[in-house]
Amino acid sequence: MPIRIEHVGRDFGPLRVLDDVSLAIEDGTFVTVLGASGCGKTTLLNMVAGLSPPSRGRILLDGKPIAGPGPDRVVVFQQPGLYPWLTLRDNVAFGLRMRSARQIEWPRVDEVIAVMGLRGFESHRPYELSGGMQQRVALARALVMQPRVLLMDEPFAALDAQTRHNMQRFLLELWEKIQATVLFITHDIDEAILLGDRVVVMGARPGRIVLEQSVPLSRPRQWEMSLEPAFIDLKRQALHILAG
Ligand SMILES: Nc1ncnc2c1ncn2[C@@H]1O[C@H](COP(=O)(O)OP(=O)(O)OP(=O)(O)O)[C@@H](O)[C@H]1O
Ligand SMILES: [Mg+2]
Repeated sequence: MPIRIEHVGRDFGPLRVLDDVSLAIEDGTFVTVLGASGCGKTTLLNMVAGLSPPSRGRILLDGKPIAGPGPDRVVVFQQPGLYPWLTLRDNVAFGLRMRSARQIEWPRVDEVIAVMGLRGFESHRPYELSGGMQQRVALARALVMQPRVLLMDEPFAALDAQTRHNMQRFLLELWEKIQATVLFITHDIDEAILLGDRVVVMGARPGRIVLEQSVPLSRPRQWEMSLEPAFIDLKRQALHILAG
């Protein structure tokens, strides 16, 4: 599902948070967004999610203006936001239950649980899981919906380095299967380059796009690619902008 962000601006009262942001995301591409804290990344993602409207410009999904949240777009936030009273399995199935109360495809739920490395914990409640496991449940809950569009707001920021690497691998493997259109916000330059087909770097006050660059690395991606000159070049450009 292609996304077109056209000359979008967003104000909160007198504060101009985003100004003239334009971005075209082709169907099935993975776009990562970097930018300093407070530059408007979450604001942009929330508008694509349909949680808040632009002040100026428009956002089109499949050629139609976004009028609100929809089942075609699933959001993963930095905090897992699980339901404490539900088991892991019921948390993963939650979105499917909302979509169709009668038929939950449990084999699909269990497959995603297995892929996320959560087998054996199906009947645990969130408080019985580590932070990394909870975030994997949140990701499983999103992916089981097989969304056309996946909107991710620093989903791995709270994780330790090892879990984070595992999650990046899981996400790329799954993305290659479901071919969703992904908008992924991160503070981590390496993560942005390693995951993305394209990297967008935003500047602040007002938030705008300063750099938009294709990532010249083949897929499947491996961590070792961060040692390649093309990777380092792009990292240097991003660092230069972020250092401001
Ligand atoms: N609902 C709101 N009402 C008023 N101001 C808001 C609202 N949402 C965001 N802002 C302001 O807009 C600016 C951008 O916020 P946003 O959350 O989009 O930044 P961000 O780039 O996601 O930052 P971070 O990397 O810290 O998550 C901030 O100055 C923030 O205070
Ligand atoms: Mg944010």
